[in-house]
Amino acid sequence: MNDFPDLSLDPERMPRHVAIVMDGNGRWATRRGLARLEGHRRGKDSVRAVVDAARELGIPYLTLFAFSSENWQRPSSEVRFLMQLLHRYLITETKRMMKRDIRLIALGDCSRLPAQVQKALRETVECTAGNRAMTVALAVSYSGRQEIVRAARRLAAEVASGGMRPEDIDEFAVASRLDTAGLPDPDLLIRTSGELRISNFFLFQLSYTELYFTETLWPDFREREFLAALSAYQRRERRFGSVDTAARPPLRVAN
Ligand code: IPE
Ligand code: IPE
Ligand code: MG
Repeated sequence: MNDFPDLSLDPERMPRHVAIVMDGNGRWATRRGLARLEGHRRGKDSVRAVVDAARELGIPYLTLFAFSSENWQRPSSEVRFLMQLLHRYLITETKRMMKRDIRLIALGDCSRLPAQVQKALRETVECTAGNRAMTVALAVSYSGRQEIVRAARRLAAEVASGGMRPEDIDEFAVASRLDTAGLPDPDLLIRTSGELRISNFFLFQLSYTELYFTETLWPDFREREFLAALSAYQRRERRFGSVDTAARPPLRVAN
């Protein structure tokens, strides 16, 4: 019955940063004759399972793409439900994060979130700021292009005010003005639900990220599926444009 590959992992070759596009909640629900919202509700349990697994495995950075800037176009009832879910998640998970020494940070244009969600997010970020074992980055109201635009505006303002010269702008200068400033680039991107696209996620950060796509819908994605993704990652040969498998990524952001 067990058609899973050998899931033994090499602790020496764990990714430092895993990013996940958590997709397929709606389809999970509609295939069962349920409302899409039920899929989102179940998806929250997968978030908990994957955060716990990553923490146990000692993965220092985990980014979860929870809501895109484009997702605001969805029916207002679905958006409202997702915002309530996020609010409840923040309230209930803060205690668990404190227990597990997990720091939460937010990526994206949080100013668009309802006031009570912004407040809960701020409180969780502040409360967990001193935690060190793992960083969970929650991408909400996030768009990769908009993030690059915001970084470009910051750089333009710094040049306009005389604080910087155009020739000082290099990859590091851009990276350190993105929402992900201080985070290493993801080593592994997982997208669930079988869609083979990036959907405006991490356009700058994914330059040499290993991509892993699975048909599994997000509410069914639990520890075993996560281990399968990590195991697949460990079988990849990363070259970063070189011929040498010991080559390093072209841009290494200090953190
Ligand atoms: C992912 O599931 C959750 C969000 C994008 C907020 P979807 O809601 O996109 O589920 P599908 O893709 O319609 O199945
Ligand atoms: C991507 O999923 C965004 C998140 C998972 C938060 P979507 O369901 O919004 O992406 P598309 O519409 O299929 O590209
Ligand atoms: Mg989707």
